[in-house]
Amino acid sequence: MKGVLLAGGTGSRLFPLTRITNKHLLPIYDRPMINWAIEALVKADITELMLVTGGIHAGEFLRLLGNGHEFGIDRLSYGYQERPGGIAEALGLAEQFCDHEPVLVMLADNVVERSIRPMVDAFRANPTGARILLTEVTEPEHLRHLGVPALDDSGRVTEIIEKPESPPSDYGVTGIYCYTPEVFDIIKTLEPSGRGELEITDVNNHFVSAGLMAYDVLDGFWGDAGESIDAYYAVNDFVRAHGANKD
Ligand code: G1P
Repeated sequence: MKGVLLAGGTGSRLFPLTRITNKHLLPIYDRPMINWAIEALVKADITELMLVTGGIHAGEFLRLLGNGHEFGIDRLSYGYQERPGGIAEALGLAEQFCDHEPVLVMLADNVVERSIRPMVDAFRANPTGARILLTEVTEPEHLRHLGVPALDDSGRVTEIIEKPESPPSDYGVTGIYCYTPEVFDIIKTLEPSGRGELEITDVNNHFVSAGLMAYDVLDGFWGDAGESIDAYYAVNDFVRAHGANKD
């Protein structure tokens, strides 16, 4: 299984901090944000990684990570997104790297308390369609900033709504996704959304419509450190007190 870490975007929600660096290089406790995402994948035995970034600070990733061996990565590739065209467009750049293998995709501003290994192992055992990781979110205001699944009585996802006015459930879709290689064919069919980007939620809804969407509900803390400056500090406080990616 290959791993793709998405670390692009302008980080506008964290301006002015992100005028002078890439969001994923800002510190979370004692290391840059990207290092926690790398640790999450390496601990799930995903050691062939592609990091996709963009913008004017991209070179700093090479300076930080080099060939990745120091962090337990066997093979590290880099991809460069020429303009902020969305998460799904960034993933599309990893098609050749993935070479027809299943892939774990992680938005590198997502931080989890507990290891993602159970989800990854479940997909390894049954690599069909897509598998996403949900987290329980009780505040509707928070859900309005996320992708939110609608679930039927048997708990199947019937649709994912991106940043819904009225959240259809108490679960947020985290930025951690497993896909079969068909994901790259789906990306080629997408049209840009209202904000001019190829949306990962549109990719996921393709798998939902095909009846090929599975999910796990995350145990423990989840945070998107890029969501707002308060979310950034909440993730920092949590990781400083409790750590991350624990078995
Ligand atoms: C993205 C996804 C959203 C998901 C979130 C998790 O949102 O579009 O579905 O819930 O990541 O971090 P963004 O952070 O780009 O607004």
